[in-house]
Amino acid sequence: MDPFRIDSSRQQAARDHLWMHFTRHSTYDTHEVPTIVRGEGAYIWDSHGKRYLDGLAGLFVVQVGHGRTELAEAAAKQAAELAFFPLWSYATPGAIDLAERLAGYAPGDLNRVFFTSGGGEAVESAWKLAKNYFKLTGKPTKHKVISRAIAYHGTTAGALSITGLPGMKAQFEPLVPSTFRVPNTNLYRAPEQFGGGTPEDERAFGRWAADRIGEAIEFEGPDTVAAVFLEPVQNAGGCFPPPAGYFERVREICDEHDVLLVSDEVICAFGRLGHMFACERYGYQPDIITCAKGLTSGYSPLGAMIATDRLFEPFAKGDTSFAHGYTFGGHPVSTAVAMTNLDIFEREQINEHVRETEADFRATLGRLRDLPIVGDVRGEGYFYGIELVKDKSTKESFDGPESERLLRGFLSGALFEAGLYCRADDRGDPVIQLAPPLISDQAVFDEIESTLRDVLTRAWSQL
Ligand SMILES: Cc1ncc(COP(=O)(O)O)c(C=O)c1O
Repeated sequence: MDPFRIDSSRQQAARDHLWMHFTRHSTYDTHEVPTIVRGEGAYIWDSHGKRYLDGLAGLFVVQVGHGRTELAEAAAKQAAELAFFPLWSYATPGAIDLAERLAGYAPGDLNRVFFTSGGGEAVESAWKLAKNYFKLTGKPTKHKVISRAIAYHGTTAGALSITGLPGMKAQFEPLVPSTFRVPNTNLYRAPEQFGGGTPEDERAFGRWAADRIGEAIEFEGPDTVAAVFLEPVQNAGGCFPPPAGYFERVREICDEHDVLLVSDEVICAFGRLGHMFACERYGYQPDIITCAKGLTSGYSPLGAMIATDRLFEPFAKGDTSFAHGYTFGGHPVSTAVAMTNLDIFEREQINEHVRETEADFRATLGRLRDLPIVGDVRGEGYFYGIELVKDKSTKESFDGPESERLLRGFLSGALFEAGLYCRADDRGDPVIQLAPPLISDQAVFDEIESTLRDVLTRAWSQL
């Protein structure tokens, strides 16, 4: 069978056998299962040959764009040479080289790289390391985690427990106990006293939000709290950048209470915000970085937890070991692909390109503010959320059934139909999320803007 042609028997097989992730399968009782067969640059094609702009880089993944034969060749070469060997007491050249390279990019003494297969496993590994580290260093009761409302950190039991989305957790309870939520940094919906729109208001809001972390640590007891998990820019809820001074204050609080600061950069690392690691952009030093996605631009799965020398130290001596691992963590094919992907980053100056063009992306999306349904356009780098509102002057949001009709009933389908693959998300207030490949240019920004303008205008007229 031609793999590019999806005939009706393959459509039926998709309905009968494929269990898609986070998917309402009943949708496909009446609709075709959209089947993507090919990619090139910032574009993807479906099985009918129709082209779409990949406004989400797959899932915040395909940094250097689709169709890079150089990455495919790196994978093939490695698979022919050594397809697989585990990192369980053995090393492979690619894993060694990539660990050294990531340690070189990471700030300060984040020198120790533990490979995983993806982001959730990196988050899981970070929590286990935090607990194990404190048990080995005389603070055995430190085990709890603080994270933020609406933040997504993955779906494995520990990572889901850290996730701040009650609707994604209730059906799997009881989850791992001992995680606690604090407010996120949604400036658009900040408490009224910070809503003046001045830089002072923003700084005061950042201080307030950071202090909620300190308060939660004190409520729980500092001798019970092991770590705080924060994304540099929180994705779920629609891109909440950190207010000025936020991470500086969080770092102080963590130091005061000997709590580890975990920078969950599964989305934000590898150029999404114009730097290899996003903590660099905001000038803070984490104790652990978790990353995945863009590390290979998606040409092979890989994640990593990067820890400081201090955290590795108790595992460096005697009969201790970190009793944790994954068969496919640091897979030779994936590490080879990651090395080539990072070569492309350097050769093509991907981070520099994002930093040079991000103001244009912001300005282009900002034009949508004239639409009555657009409440806020926020984000940084190549990572944006557009919040949709019922009433701009009051910021009134859509209620549950309205949001269901708007996002699932109209927007998701209409945007795709119009040739833009992106995400309409209502895990928090309704937002459209955009994160195109990092090789995008003004033509791509303009296409995103004009498609959104057309579809959002139609959405408003249907309300
Ligand atoms: C911040 C963050 N952490 C963790 C994860 C989980 O990563 P994965 O889906 O690779 O397990 C994600 C996935 O989107 C994420 O955005």
